[in-house]
Amino acid sequence: MPDDPATRAGLPVRGARALFSDVRWFAEVRSTNSVLAELGRRAAPEGVVVVADHQTAGRGRLGRRWEAPAGSSLLLSVLLRPALSVAELPLTTLLVALAACDACVDVARVSPLLKWPNDLTVAGRKLGGVLAETVPGPDGRAVIVGLGLNVTWAPSPPASGVSLEQVAGHPVDRSELLAALLRHLEDRYRALDGRHGRSDLVAAYRARSATLGRAVRVEREGGVLEGRAVDVTPEGHLVAEIAGRRRVFAAADVIHLRPGGEGL
Ligand code: BTN
Repeated sequence: MPDDPATRAGLPVRGARALFSDVRWFAEVRSTNSVLAELGRRAAPEGVVVVADHQTAGRGRLGRRWEAPAGSSLLLSVLLRPALSVAELPLTTLLVALAACDACVDVARVSPLLKWPNDLTVAGRKLGGVLAETVPGPDGRAVIVGLGLNVTWAPSPPASGVSLEQVAGHPVDRSELLAALLRHLEDRYRALDGRHGRSDLVAAYRARSATLGRAVRVEREGGVLEGRAVDVTPEGHLVAEIAGRRRVFAAADVIHLRPGGEGL
């Protein structure tokens, strides 16, 4: 059962007409993405938000687990039914990642960068990650976008993970962070339908990119390639220059290469 949302109050959503006003906050679930995927299959409307203090089977990209102690992170998923083509669906990851950055700036005065495709980073250390999944349903496809953001705790080793409180140097309230994120997400999501919506979103993403201009290793099915990240396409795909040729990657794992060594 979800906690009484009123006790979570302070969650200053914008009233009944706000797109993300149906917030269901649970003490524990297996995975907020899984809970929302089930709702999506059962025709839940766009805008439902599932939040949890703890996940027992949180999922990361590429079949990895996402683990965090209870109450230490902002763990949430949102249900979208965007008017995007399949090729453009990566834009939903960019959207939530950018809204999460906006919220970090507003609430903690911390300005993360984005490592393509889905990581929030501070000084090369991972602050959070986004996982987008699609599910079929009677009303058509739903996109579930989940975010895990380290608030009071960061995974070890310290060189790879970081928490918002570590960087901010003061306590950060998860409800406030959530409310800010949902406000920014709504603004960015509604803007997507405008004439320049997609290009503006990708421009904002480029401006926050920790990946563009970097030497990268691109790991995907079919092999590992090394080159330089040079652009993000209007669909949110990564463009890398590899052996003098531009190649486009819709999905891959990217490692930033530091001169002479491994990177995040
Ligand atoms: C990654 O960096 O691999 C993405 C991690 C996404 C984790 C979040 S936590 C909330 C939501 N529910 C899940 O099971 N996963 C996402």
